[in-house]
Amino acid sequence: MKAVVITKPGGPEVLQLQEYPAPVPGQEEVLIKVHAAGLNRADLSQREGRYPAPPGVPADIPGLEVAGTVVSSGESVTMWSPGDKICALLAGGGYAEYVTVKEGQCLPVPEGLSFAEAASLPETVFTVWSNVFQRGKLTPGETLLIHGGSSGIGITAIQLAHALNNKIWVTVGTEEKGEACIRLGATQYINYKKQDFEKALATTGIDVILDMVGGKYLGKNLTILNPEGRLVYINSMEGNLAEVNISTVMQKRITITGSTLRSREYSYKKALAADIHQHVWPLIAAKKFLPVVYATFPFKEAAEAHRLMGSSEHIGKIVLVNE
Ligand SMILES: NC(=O)c1ccc[n+]([C@@H]2O[C@H](COP(=O)([O-])OP(=O)(O)OC[C@H]3O[C@@H](n4cnc5c(N)ncnc54)[C@H](OP(=O)(O)O)[C@@H]3O)[C@@H](O)[C@H]2O)c1
Repeated sequence: MKAVVITKPGGPEVLQLQEYPAPVPGQEEVLIKVHAAGLNRADLSQREGRYPAPPGVPADIPGLEVAGTVVSSGESVTMWSPGDKICALLAGGGYAEYVTVKEGQCLPVPEGLSFAEAASLPETVFTVWSNVFQRGKLTPGETLLIHGGSSGIGITAIQLAHALNNKIWVTVGTEEKGEACIRLGATQYINYKKQDFEKALATTGIDVILDMVGGKYLGKNLTILNPEGRLVYINSMEGNLAEVNISTVMQKRITITGSTLRSREYSYKKALAADIHQHVWPLIAAKKFLPVVYATFPFKEAAEAHRLMGSSEHIGKIVLVNE
């Protein structure tokens, strides 16, 4: 098969479309013919050699999510049959013609969506559902602040929280990104390059914050959170270390938490997929939550796709398509 391979750690140019042995499905796995693969910020870190793949997936093929058609399956598979159109959460290996994954990490391609649209869903939906709604316990009527509102994660969190009756604030780097977030359901945006979000939200009262920035944002986040607020980390792009005012945490009874999805065990991902199928897939069917695909590239242009993501010009998701 053909696969986009990280030929050595480095810039986008190290991604090359090459011949690669096709995977064989294990007992609980399906073999998917990949029609589209979503890009995620983690793919760039893996390409640079800063985020190695966990055991069990190809170390040199990035790709955390795909959509395609089931070709064959292991003997214990009961959920899917050859010909089914599915999308799947992977731990790696998605930028390829074929990929294998355990059956419980797959979901049906929602009615009416293209493969590119379906491939843009798993990583962000799994991450947002588990961190904002399960871990962060956002309930209807509460207020949510999303840092990086125009990211793949951001556009998913905005739409899900909007569909479930929350008010949403976002931080973004440009007015254009802010306006896009408003169109998706955000209440208000803060251009962090022009305005300090701590001052802008001093009297708003935020119940849950989804943060991928980290670093100095910690103290500001704690200041604007309501009593019983929850601060959920999914990355720390501006630094892992920060000072915390413990008194603020105690006085407001704030919960600071976070998680990473890729390394979690299969039983967790399977249960999460079932919860998402029950709660999120109906929102897609009702058109209350729609994929936002900013750009598609053929697999052979994966380097260009990585350059675009590295520029942070995009709003929403970037997807590779097998032509
Ligand atoms: N923990 C988990 O399980 C998990 C799972 C998936 C994703 N994530 C994390 O969630 C974040 C979003 O992922 P994504 O794939 O949706 O990314 P993405 O679409 O590339 O979006 C990242 C956005 O963050 C903003 N940003 C703020 N500070 C930045 C910085 N220092 N460097 C680069 N961008 C910065 C940029 O928008 P502005 O121009 O507005 O600043 C950029 O567009 C990533 O950090 C990713 O690692 C975590």
